[in-house]
Amino acid sequence: MEDYIVSGRAPLCGRLAVYGAKNAVLPILAGSILGSGAVFIKNCPRLSDVSYTLEILRRLGCRVEAEDGVVMVNPASASSWRLDAGPAGEMRSSVNFLGALVGRYGRAELPMPGGCRLGSRPIDLHIKAFREMGVSVESSGGMIYAEGRPRGADLRLDFPSVGATENVILAAVAAKGITTLNNAAREPEIADLCGFLTAMGAKIHGSGTGTIRVEGVPRLGGCEYEIMPDRIVAGTYMCAAAAAGGEIELENVVRPHVEAVAEALTRCGAEIAFSGDRALVRMRRPLRSPGVVRTEVYPGFPTDCQSQLMAVMACGRETGVIVENIFENRFRIVPELRRMGAEIRVSGPKAEVRGGALKGAELFAGDLRGGAALVVAALGARGESRVHGVDYIARGYQDLAGELRSVGAKIKQE
Ligand code: EPZ
Repeated sequence: MEDYIVSGRAPLCGRLAVYGAKNAVLPILAGSILGSGAVFIKNCPRLSDVSYTLEILRRLGCRVEAEDGVVMVNPASASSWRLDAGPAGEMRSSVNFLGALVGRYGRAELPMPGGCRLGSRPIDLHIKAFREMGVSVESSGGMIYAEGRPRGADLRLDFPSVGATENVILAAVAAKGITTLNNAAREPEIADLCGFLTAMGAKIHGSGTGTIRVEGVPRLGGCEYEIMPDRIVAGTYMCAAAAAGGEIELENVVRPHVEAVAEALTRCGAEIAFSGDRALVRMRRPLRSPGVVRTEVYPGFPTDCQSQLMAVMACGRETGVIVENIFENRFRIVPELRRMGAEIRVSGPKAEVRGGALKGAELFAGDLRGGAALVVAALGARGESRVHGVDYIARGYQDLAGELRSVGAKIKQE
């Protein structure tokens, strides 16, 4: 895929519609194999991770059709519980098929999940929960082997892992008995997954809270469901406006989902006003520091917007601190921002960011959100930047360059 060539400091102006959430649609697509009938998923984003997941569903024997943002999955002819390396090895979210396949077949074989290099990203919490549900799980040769019909259990996660919460729910909806999951993740994408499964006939209580109760049912049907807007895409657009300056209006915004990002950017000097499902983001003052920002589980500041905020801070002239509490290696853009002129000191989970008059440079993305963050930094820098590694960005953004160009950013692809 081509590189992005960005000419910085062109103020943004215009309207951007936020599309469906990647981290909601991926577990929902995995969950589609739990039903006996066709599911119609609306507002499905056009992302490479979604394409990989649709290919996995086809290889499992499902009929899959995608048209105008609506994806139809019919699992009636699905017959396999085995995922080969191929697309499944590409993405972290393929691990959701562990719960869905165990839920449907009482068996699963799939590669250890791939994904962004944000640290070790183990799945010990998933495996511990499945074993407590009576499913045996072994891993060898880079593969995971699960066997056993899940049965209801009283579980507690040592950490409110998003993926582990999703996998337990996917296995529990078809399990015998009642499963209670304590210390569950509260991210909005979990509530979206529960909404989808409930539409298929599942019995789930407490979604969005730290305690989720699932009553297994013998059969799930088809359904229609609309995916929630992507709060991380919305947060990325807000950061782009803060770095480039100007004024943009976002549509399809759920205020509580972006509150923490809006609050941090307001401390940077942005004016953000909400009205219904719209957010007006205006940046007409010099960028200030947000002070100390700590990433937390929802509703705290989302780790998936941490790199983008660091890029905004690098475009300013003051010093701020970011503490990354969720992943052990999510400062991969630091060397790139330094090359643009930012002074950044990292010690453990803490990064002290001293902005400077950033200059355009050759930049190399190493993960999805880091790639988006480099575009944000290039928008706020003087001169031209070339961003390599756009494939990473395509995993989570439909057309970031085109989207930003539509509101005045000077970005071309070559
Ligand atoms: C989901 O990843 C998202 N991915 C991530 O978004 C997001 O950053 C993350 O949740 C946190 O919000 C998808 O939904 C596809 P976790 P997930 O399990 O489920 C550790 C993006 O850019 N952990 O909540 O993998 C883990 O190493 C991506 O869209 C264990 O130690 O996140 C990490 O440090 C990046 N053992 C922390 O918990 C486990 O068994 C949070 O992981 C599981 C997780």
